[in-house]
Amino acid sequence: MPSRNGTRIGVVGGTGAVGTVTLGLLREHGFENVRVFASARSAGKQVGGHTVEEATPDALSRGDVDIFLFSVGTGASRELVPHAVRGGATVVDKSSAYRLEPGIPLVVPEVNGGRAMENDGIIANPNCCTIPLTCVLKPLHEEAGLVRVRVATYQSVSGAGAQSMEQLRNEAPDDHDLRMDWDFDGEEFDEESKLRAETRKIMELPDLPIQATCVRVPVMIGHAEAVWLETEQPLSPERARELLAAAPSVRVEEFPSPGKAAGIDDVLVGRIRRDPTVDQGLALFLASDNLRKGAALNAIQIAELLLSGARAPAA
Ligand SMILES: NC(=O)c1ccc[n+]([C@@H]2O[C@H](COP(=O)([O-])OP(=O)(O)OC[C@H]3O[C@@H](n4cnc5c(N)ncnc54)[C@H](OP(=O)(O)O)[C@@H]3O)[C@@H](O)[C@H]2O)c1
Repeated sequence: MPSRNGTRIGVVGGTGAVGTVTLGLLREHGFENVRVFASARSAGKQVGGHTVEEATPDALSRGDVDIFLFSVGTGASRELVPHAVRGGATVVDKSSAYRLEPGIPLVVPEVNGGRAMENDGIIANPNCCTIPLTCVLKPLHEEAGLVRVRVATYQSVSGAGAQSMEQLRNEAPDDHDLRMDWDFDGEEFDEESKLRAETRKIMELPDLPIQATCVRVPVMIGHAEAVWLETEQPLSPERARELLAAAPSVRVEEFPSPGKAAGIDDVLVGRIRRDPTVDQGLALFLASDNLRKGAALNAIQIAELLLSGARAPAA
C-alpha cells in the first residue's frame, strides 16, 4: 500500500450522510488524493470541493484507486463492491452486505484491528451501534469475562441517512415520536439481530448471550445505548471506570448524551454502576457520533491500519 498522501481514495456514496462526513475526516486525517462517487442522480454535482462521478462498474474497476470507502446501502454495495475489488482496490464497506460473510473481516480497530490484514479485498465496517458497544465491552471482557449483555438503544435519525435528517428538520416538534424503521422478522428488527451477530463476530465470542431492543429517537446525530452486562469474575464499578478511562477511543463522562458525542471522535461512557438484579452485573450508558466513530471514522481508521500494516489487537 502507498503512503497516506500518495494513497488514491475513492469515496462511494460521497453525497450521503456518512459520505459527506467521510470527506471532512479524510481532509482532517491528511488524505489529499480523494475522488467522490455516487449514483447517476448526483453525477456532476459538487461535494466538498469534488465533482461527483457516477459509480459505474467501469469507473470502479479501472484500477486507478487504492482504497474505496463505500457508504451506499446494502443492495448497491452487493452490486458495486465486486467491481472495485476486480480493479485491484481494497474496499472498506459500511453496509451490512458483507459483515457476516465468513472470511470477510469485520473490524473495529481498537477491538480486533489485527484482523484487517486478513482480507481478500473487502473489509466490513460494523453497524453504528456495534462499534461503540464493542469499544466499551472489550476492556471489561478482558478483565472479567463477559457472561451476558443486554442493550437498549436510542438511535438518532441520521443513522437512517440524509433523507431522514431532512424529514426530522421538516417535522413539527409536537409530531416527534420514537421510530422503529428497520426490517421486522416477526420477532425482532434486523438492527437488533445485527447488533448480536456482529458483536459476537468482532469479539470472537460466538455464543455470547446478547439481547437488544433498538429504537430511533428524534435526535439528529448521536446514538446512545443503555447496557447491562454480567461478568464471570467480580468487577466493581470503580474498576470498570478505571478500565474504560484507559481504553482507546473511549472517554468516561458522567452523563453521556448524543449531543455531547456529536462531532467528537471518542465514545462517551458513564452512569457506570452495579446492577443489583444479578450477582455480578454492571449497568452503564454510552453515546457516540454514529456518523463518525459509528461509520466514517472507523472506516478511515481501518484504511490507516492497512496503510501502516501495523499490528493491532485481535479480539
Ligand atoms: N448513517 C449512519 O449513521 C450509518 C452508520 C453506519 C453505516 N451506515 C451505512 O452507510 C450506508 C450509507 O448510509 P447513509 O446514512 O450515508 O445514507 P444516505 O444519506 O441515504 O446516502 C446514500 C449514498 O449512497 C449513494 N447511492 C445510493 N444508491 C447508489 C447507487 N446505486 N450507486 C451509487 N451510489 C449510490 C447516494 O448517492 P446519490 O446522492 O446519488 O443518491 C448517497 O451518496 C448504508 O449502508 C448504511 O447502512 C450508515
